[in-house]
Amino acid sequence: MPTTLETKTPRLVTALPGPKAQQVIASDAKFMSPSLTREYPLVAKKGHGTIVEDVDGNSFLDFAAGIAVCSTGHCHPKVVEAIQKQAAELIHISGTDFYHHHMPQLAERLVATMPGKQPKKVFFGNSGTEAVEGAIKLARYATKRDKLIAFYGCFHGRTLGSLSLTASKSTQRKNFGTLLGGVEHIPFPYAYRCAHGHTSETCGTEILELLEQQMFKRLFAPEEIAAIIIEPIQGEGGFIPAPAFFLQELQRICNRHGIMLIVDEVQSGVGRTGKWWAYEHAGIEPDIVCIAKGIASGMPLSAFVAKESVMTWGRGSHGTTYGGNPVCIASAMATLDLIENGYMENARKMGDYIFGRINGWPQHFKIVGDVRGKGLMIGIEIVRDQKTKEKAADLRDAVVQKAFQKGLLVLSAGENSIRVSPPLLIDEEQADFAIRTLEECFREVEKTM
Ligand SMILES: Cc1ncc(COP(=O)(O)O)c(C=O)c1O
Repeated sequence: MPTTLETKTPRLVTALPGPKAQQVIASDAKFMSPSLTREYPLVAKKGHGTIVEDVDGNSFLDFAAGIAVCSTGHCHPKVVEAIQKQAAELIHISGTDFYHHHMPQLAERLVATMPGKQPKKVFFGNSGTEAVEGAIKLARYATKRDKLIAFYGCFHGRTLGSLSLTASKSTQRKNFGTLLGGVEHIPFPYAYRCAHGHTSETCGTEILELLEQQMFKRLFAPEEIAAIIIEPIQGEGGFIPAPAFFLQELQRICNRHGIMLIVDEVQSGVGRTGKWWAYEHAGIEPDIVCIAKGIASGMPLSAFVAKESVMTWGRGSHGTTYGGNPVCIASAMATLDLIENGYMENARKMGDYIFGRINGWPQHFKIVGDVRGKGLMIGIEIVRDQKTKEKAADLRDAVVQKAFQKGLLVLSAGENSIRVSPPLLIDEEQADFAIRTLEECFREVEKTM
């Protein structure tokens, strides 16, 4: 009899939440910040591969991966070994004031994953929002300009600089007062809801026109703009890919005006889409790339990588106490080994397999409006009516809850989408379980309509 964590698919032994989970949730309600947004009562205790076990011994198939963080699954033995070895040798030294051999090693490896001839340099931080904060500062420093352009629906973080860019949900900005000045948002090319009826390849032409013909002429002269920041696949916004031509055109516009193109790969990067970076699918070479989440399999590490010609700021311009911590870097090195030696290829292969099975969902389920994404970054948009495309957040929430009750962890994204972002090591049996479970949930939810 395998222990629970050795199973490949879920096993539920109590009603959910179980008795121990209920105790933790009660204590959490008493002591924890009420700003946290738990979607269902999972109280995790252990994790191994794609399986998470809760405090009551229920095991779940994790197709959320701690918000796309556990790229190599939970507690991969090689990652654990690297962390343990490094923790026994040196936990902290602070890369701002001292050197550590791991820092340039990881930086060199990251740069090597990025296409393009231009030499690049790296700054390490601890979280996605820090990577974005640093990128904003660097873009302003390098251009001596201060205006920034981001996209509706985007999520770049919750600290005050990155929050000024974030335009995902107004609750994330509400009551926090004045944010950074000089930030404007333009629509994201959202093919399923394209106002001009374009396809997923061509959506966005009018947005580029808006940028050049309206914004540059009426609001910000391009020579005032420090950066345009974009997620190549909007994550929090609903797992919406930007068309390749759109990213290419954005790069052309940025190059023409000396604007930094910042690509936020915090959610889409590190092999999840079948390439190291989602922007590679468009063949562009951004000026600054923000990285976090999947880079260190759950240890807090982020980075922004910039062209050497851009990262010219002087000593003391930017720093951090913890960023590039030796233990986190050791975890990242082990993570990159695993991604490079099979998991990225598996993400591509399993992504193709899953899309092959779910592309027809809109024909089979009336609440599924759209299925989209790349590799193992898969978005499913839930609607009340396929013709009107009325957004159905309540039905989406019901699917997510039902999936949890059946032992499958997925998360919501955007107003009415579900995000599927499993660890990159899943196999067909696990993909089939997740597909079957979601299909059951769709059927059950459709019966309630
Ligand atoms: C694209 C993107 N950028 C930035 C962030 C912020 O990262 P963190 O929560 O680590 O600060 C996120 C988090 O979800 C994200 O998805």
